[in-house]
Amino acid sequence: MCGIVGYCGPKSAKSVLYGGLKRLEYRGYDSAGISVLDADGKVQTVKSVGTVTNLDAGTLPDDASTGIGHTRWATHGGVTDLNAHPHTSGAITLVHNGIIENFETLAETYNIERISQTDTEVLAGLIDHHFASTGSLKDAVLAALAEVQGTYGIVVMSPRQPGTLVAARKGSPLVVGVGRDEHIIASDPQAIVSHTDNIIFLDDGEVAVIDALNIDVYNLANQPQTKMVEEVEQAAEVNMAGFGSFLEKEIHEQPSSLTEVMRGRISGDGRITLGGPDLTADQIAGLDNILIIGCGTAYYAGMYAKYELEDLLGIPVQVEHASEFRYRHAAYSPSTSLAIFMSQSGETADTLAALEEAKRRGVPTMGIVNTVGSTLARSVSNGGIYLHAGTEVSVASTKAYSSMVVALLMFGGFLADRRGQRLGDIRVLAEDLVNLPHEIELCTKLSDPIKAIAAEIAGHSNWFVLGRGNLFPIALEGALKVTEVSYIHAQAFPTGEMKHGPISLIDEGHISVVLLPEDKLLYDKSISGVQEIRAREGKVLTISSRPALEHSDWHITVPMVGHRVSGLVMNCCLQLLALHVAEKLGRDTDRPRNLAKSVTVE
Ligand code: M6R
Repeated sequence: MCGIVGYCGPKSAKSVLYGGLKRLEYRGYDSAGISVLDADGKVQTVKSVGTVTNLDAGTLPDDASTGIGHTRWATHGGVTDLNAHPHTSGAITLVHNGIIENFETLAETYNIERISQTDTEVLAGLIDHHFASTGSLKDAVLAALAEVQGTYGIVVMSPRQPGTLVAARKGSPLVVGVGRDEHIIASDPQAIVSHTDNIIFLDDGEVAVIDALNIDVYNLANQPQTKMVEEVEQAAEVNMAGFGSFLEKEIHEQPSSLTEVMRGRISGDGRITLGGPDLTADQIAGLDNILIIGCGTAYYAGMYAKYELEDLLGIPVQVEHASEFRYRHAAYSPSTSLAIFMSQSGETADTLAALEEAKRRGVPTMGIVNTVGSTLARSVSNGGIYLHAGTEVSVASTKAYSSMVVALLMFGGFLADRRGQRLGDIRVLAEDLVNLPHEIELCTKLSDPIKAIAAEIAGHSNWFVLGRGNLFPIALEGALKVTEVSYIHAQAFPTGEMKHGPISLIDEGHISVVLLPEDKLLYDKSISGVQEIRAREGKVLTISSRPALEHSDWHITVPMVGHRVSGLVMNCCLQLLALHVAEKLGRDTDRPRNLAKSVTVE
């Protein structure tokens, strides 16, 4: 979603800001802007709709050493140059991530003049109003934030306090990179790691006053806070490594990302050991309910795990959309439940809000997260599991999804072991998991035949993806992937639900992708479903570990693998199908329209 970079130090601010915004590009945005303070104490701004390269940064002074930059994902107001950030009101220039919910009331109360349609410009005006009376940038920000409802990550500068930036966060991440005689502020460590490994993570409700040499942090009541400088691992330079897109690269990276999520966690004798979850033996023994909470693909990873964990552990697993969970009074007993929060980014606003709700109810909380040091990873009460999948650039999540499923399955095996359940079952699971990277590699080799099928079906704009048992959640994830990157309307149903309504949509132009289970009984029932679609002239693509069917129009044969991981090989084929269909349709596979990598607003 929106990205923020701010700089004060000896370097040319515009080049640090431009480089930082380029590194945030993968998160998805629709416009960008940079403001710097020139040697005469004037703010100079460039803004543009589109990519960072559209910015006329060459017109900004090279010697300006303080500035702020932004990539915008529109919430209030259309995608226009005028609505792009930074916004200036009086003596205040500001960039903002989040949503100011009461901006209309504030604009009216303080008679704030506006030239854009944004909530952000009102916040700039409000800070400017308070700056006029306090004369201190920090005090003006504190006074303004006391009146604001909503979420924000902001960085503010003013020609009246040159060389200083004031940053504040509530619900939108901000970190400060500490370099030699310089500070860089960003909404994502990615924008900073090429400059320094030393990072201060700001927490919600904190305000930082930053110049080249100093950083002072306060809470919203203006009390000084002590912060630690943490060393973060340099993120490897992210490039496409010869693939046509990050989406393609990340699908093909799964053999190694799956190896990484299991590294050191599954021993040769089939025992699963996890150092991250921080649960007592009593908590594990007393557990009678697991909640898995996330959004989008992270939610679907939980759905898949539900089928396996309920079977393995014999206790209910509730999977919840974070956006629903945060507002409803879910029925569970906090003392005997565990809430697991799933997120690639660790910054999804709904997931973070759901976490706060769970903590308020007193249930132990764990995270399964890819981004080290993210807000979610830092906020859970009982540890968790890092995915170690590496940076995922493509907006469509692929390698993080498969790693999430494996992390949940490993956690199931870990719990089963600690709860004294049959070691045999746990060892079978461990063996299935250990073999998975190789099996996924075999699936990636199906890319060319899948591409040929994609070329034939890409022109059909209505699809079903159907599955039974643990393949139903895979159908859900597959349909999301196809929809997201190709803009085809793909909907998932349990195969057995077809006759209860969806079959009315079947005609000769309709595509059904049917995932066929290994289990003989369910396989036969699924084949009946295929025949019912074919009888109505619908086109069918089957995916199965058994050879081609005479009844389907297209077929993909996947490797036969352990039951608990069988969905993941089918999922890899669906990822490749989504990729190739989107390519065929000429879509931007890494940055699909209207989407952002990390959804940091509600
Ligand atoms: O960063 P998160 O895992 O919390 O993101 C959750 C969803 O926004 C994300 O999975 C989204 O559905 C993906 N674009 C799907 O490919």
